[in-house]
Amino acid sequence: EKGGYPDFMMKEIHEQPRVIRDTLSGRLADGRLSIDELDLTHEELNLIDRVYVIACGTSYHAGLIAKNLIEGWARIPCEVEVASEFRYRNPIITPTTLVVAVSQSGETADTLAAIRDARVKGAKVFGITNVVGSPVARESDGVIYTKANKEIAVASTKSFLGQVVSLTLLALLLAQVKGKFKTNQVRLLFRELADTAEQVEHILSDTAAIDEAACACKDAKSALFVGRGMGAAIANEGALKLKEISYLHAEAYPAGEMKHGPIALIDEGFPVIAVATKSPVYDKLVSNLQEAKARGAMVVAVATEGDEDIRAHADHVIYIPKVRDAFSAITASVPLQLFARAIAIERGCDVDQPRNLAKSVTVE
Ligand code: M6R
Repeated sequence: EKGGYPDFMMKEIHEQPRVIRDTLSGRLADGRLSIDELDLTHEELNLIDRVYVIACGTSYHAGLIAKNLIEGWARIPCEVEVASEFRYRNPIITPTTLVVAVSQSGETADTLAAIRDARVKGAKVFGITNVVGSPVARESDGVIYTKANKEIAVASTKSFLGQVVSLTLLALLLAQVKGKFKTNQVRLLFRELADTAEQVEHILSDTAAIDEAACACKDAKSALFVGRGMGAAIANEGALKLKEISYLHAEAYPAGEMKHGPIALIDEGFPVIAVATKSPVYDKLVSNLQEAKARGAMVVAVATEGDEDIRAHADHVIYIPKVRDAFSAITASVPLQLFARAIAIERGCDVDQPRNLAKSVTVE
């Protein structure tokens, strides 16, 4: 049932191109996006003036990526909040607030409680889940299914990509409804989004650079994951994957924050894993990497194919295909999943069943 792969995690990582295709299938007709399951009229969608994404763990990280798109494309203020925090404070919710609850299992206790609370306060709630008929699906006003199929490894991989793609569609829909994009732009963005399936296949076809970088980092005590903009959001998921399956301490920081504290950690050989893909903040990130390298960091950079300059600032470079910055989470997350897995395997860990963790967290 592992389909010839050594573990479920590897099998699920390799299913991601299929997840992207299935999540997008049938979503665009005549230049118009349709997410009919949301059950909101064009007018109701147009009135939305605030979005909260609530979730836990990896699903929360998918929300951090979505914030960039919802604010950047649709120009709607968007906050991303851990469900266990959201439910115990008094967030500002009005009838034009949209709450997007993201949960692979669809049964995470804190996320469910946050949904109930948000609905009582009058928000519209969309669920994004992988499990048909799950509590999150049943208790939300509308639901998008991530089409990842059953995920067995405790560490989420394919369901994360399904969440990111679904949230990207939602952001695109909101932008279209708000009149921010013309039909041709929506078509172009949708096509580029669909192309990421092939780009992920390409990443999966040659993992030599990832394995080499993992080998160099496997004995570290701690690692920093850094990025800026989209890269900062992606770094969070990279760090979580590494700590949950390899028990190597990892933290994510927006690269610009390093000099405000974490740079004190860096000494000879300290691993700094950077999401260094081409983006509007690429040059800023490179200067942060120079600061880290000057203090002895061992820099692993996930970079855009063709970027030879990055070699001067990194000890290991993992190249990935060029995509628009908005879609970089889809491609850049994949080498970070493989990197975490390779380190965990080197350290003799059970990548499918990490200690102390359960696939769904149905208690508070
Ligand atoms: O089922 P959910 O998406 O609600 O689960 C949330 C987290 O428990 C989950 O993402 C957890 O962080 C995973 N182990 C991540 O790999």
